[in-house]
Amino acid sequence: MTIGVGLLGLGTVGAGVASILTNPQGRHPMVADLALRRVAVRDPQRSRPVSLPPGSLVTDPLLVVDDPAVEIVVEVMGGLEPARTLILRAISAGKSVVTANKAVIARHGEEIAAAAAERGVYVLIEAAVGGGIPIIEPLKQSLGGNRIRRVSGIINGTTNYILSRMADDGAGYGEVLAEAQALGYAEADPAADVEGGDAADKIAILAGLAYGGTISRASIATEGIDRLDARDVAYAAKLGFVVKLLAVAEHMGDDAEGGALLDVRVNPTLLPKPHPLAGVNGVNNAILVEGDPVGQVMFYGPGAGAGPTASAVVADILNIAGIHRVSGPQAGLDPLLAASRWRRCSL
Ligand code: NAP
Ligand code: HSE
Repeated sequence: MTIGVGLLGLGTVGAGVASILTNPQGRHPMVADLALRRVAVRDPQRSRPVSLPPGSLVTDPLLVVDDPAVEIVVEVMGGLEPARTLILRAISAGKSVVTANKAVIARHGEEIAAAAAERGVYVLIEAAVGGGIPIIEPLKQSLGGNRIRRVSGIINGTTNYILSRMADDGAGYGEVLAEAQALGYAEADPAADVEGGDAADKIAILAGLAYGGTISRASIATEGIDRLDARDVAYAAKLGFVVKLLAVAEHMGDDAEGGALLDVRVNPTLLPKPHPLAGVNGVNNAILVEGDPVGQVMFYGPGAGAGPTASAVVADILNIAGIHRVSGPQAGLDPLLAASRWRRCSL
């Protein structure tokens, strides 16, 4: 059974996804059942690192979302609008959605989950946090029996790349940021990376899953690395520390009505060299989950870039395709993302 996929965006991530879908050999057998039907971009003249099925490239995203041959819509265009509206339109047309867009999920996740629950479709977001690291599914499912005490981690590849290069060879901030952009790690507006906003979006998503609630994105105390330079990193090293941009969500207790009281923050942090996150370098990310009864579990891997992120996107597409195959396209929303599960969280 062939399942039609439509891509909104063919930049770093979209091209990585298209390259997997159009070269299925040696991968999971179900990849060969996925047909890339339509791809939306802004500039159809731009040269692309992947060959697409003839006639599939369009400039109007509605031609992707509304195409009856597209059953799964993959949103990898970024930004808040038109991404939010297109995701909601796909859902209301009964199509499942895969997105890597943490900015839209951190701000509109509850609205999107509610729409998906009502229409009985899936919205999967594995690529939105941690690039190629499986972290969303484990938090939603494998660790579901735990009371999560803390989720902490390095969840922005661009800033970790910059801090690692500063520590290794004293490289200058601006020079390494340009490298991270050229490697496809940075956001379209890299201020989101270096000012900590991207990590704040991601910790809002992780905390929402860990504590089953909506996290007010605007309430997350956020400080980036834009005021650090190589000297700060060198002084820290002399004292036995490494500087990392950490994102933390910690359960501080419950309020009288049973809502979770959380401390959620993003800030540059001095870590002693033996700390498990201190040796996470380059574009790698790592997320430490501490829960009861599991104890401490760490997830590690490449946190940005075309290949790792496309790996996570395709995992979500396969997940949905597998469900379509067994139960038909409207199998019902992933129960753990259903709006009804969400409870009140205060920061
Ligand atoms: P990108 O390289 O800037 O690509 C964006 C793509 O979307 C481009 O192909 C662009 O078309 C297209 N696009 C944007 N607005 C459009 C519109 N209104 N209509 C039609 N096409 C439009 O971005 P990216 O790095 O792939 O990131 C995409 C998403 O994945 C973002 O949400 C980002 O946060 C997320 N993400 C990225 C990474 C990463 O490592 N890069 C990792 C995880 C998650 P043109 O090519 O014609 O300009
Ligand atoms: N700009 C993001 C980062 C992409 O550097 O981590 C991955 O989400």
